[in-house]
Amino acid sequence: MQIQELVRPDAGLRRLVGLFRGRLHKMNLIEREVSLAEIEEDARSHFQEGKTVFGGYADERLVAFAVLKQEDSTYWLDWLFVDPVERRKGHASKLFDHCERFVQEKGEEKLYVYVHPDNDRMIRFLRKKGYDALNLIEITKKVKTKGKEIEILGNTYRY
Ligand SMILES: CC(C)(COP(=O)(O)OP(=O)(O)OC[C@H]1O[C@@H](n2cnc3c(N)ncnc32)[C@H](O)[C@@H]1OP(=O)(O)O)[C@@H](O)C(=O)NCCC(=O)NCCS
Repeated sequence: MQIQELVRPDAGLRRLVGLFRGRLHKMNLIEREVSLAEIEEDARSHFQEGKTVFGGYADERLVAFAVLKQEDSTYWLDWLFVDPVERRKGHASKLFDHCERFVQEKGEEKLYVYVHPDNDRMIRFLRKKGYDALNLIEITKKVKTKGKEIEILGNTYRY
């Protein structure tokens, strides 16, 4: 896979963004289809100030992308997505290593990663990369949940 920084959204990126947004809808129990406006908005949002987008190409086709977001000296892995038909070929691993090298060249040792607690694939992926330390949790109210409860360090949350 060839890795290249992307500087603007294109059709290849919109295709992947649409697939990813569909997956997020499923995880967030949103039943409607992904709209073109949402895809356009997501794709454009990746190129806001402070963000860096890397694309991974196989046979000149965009098959994966990663978005890094800088907040002061902290770098978040905002998005990481591999085309479902291209998974388990090491694409995410190569992109992730590239992102880590990018932040190390900026003087930071590691990335911080947003991940849904249900995203077992990504959590396994991160564990393999040595990312096994729980940092912040995100809490809100008035959202539809799966009707479950989860306990973290003695506190119970709706989930
Ligand atoms: C998570 C994701 C990025 C992994 O992409 P990938 O290209 O398939 O990952 P790699 O091939 O580089 O996998 C590297 C290692 O991660 C682990 N891993 C990856 N996918 C896994 C899975 N489905 N189950 C278990 N372990 C997995 C394995 O240890 C794997 O090494 P192995 O194949 O030698 O066993 C991909 O499944 C994806 O795009 N998911 C949807 C988007 C998403 O949830 N992104 C994260 C948002 S925070």
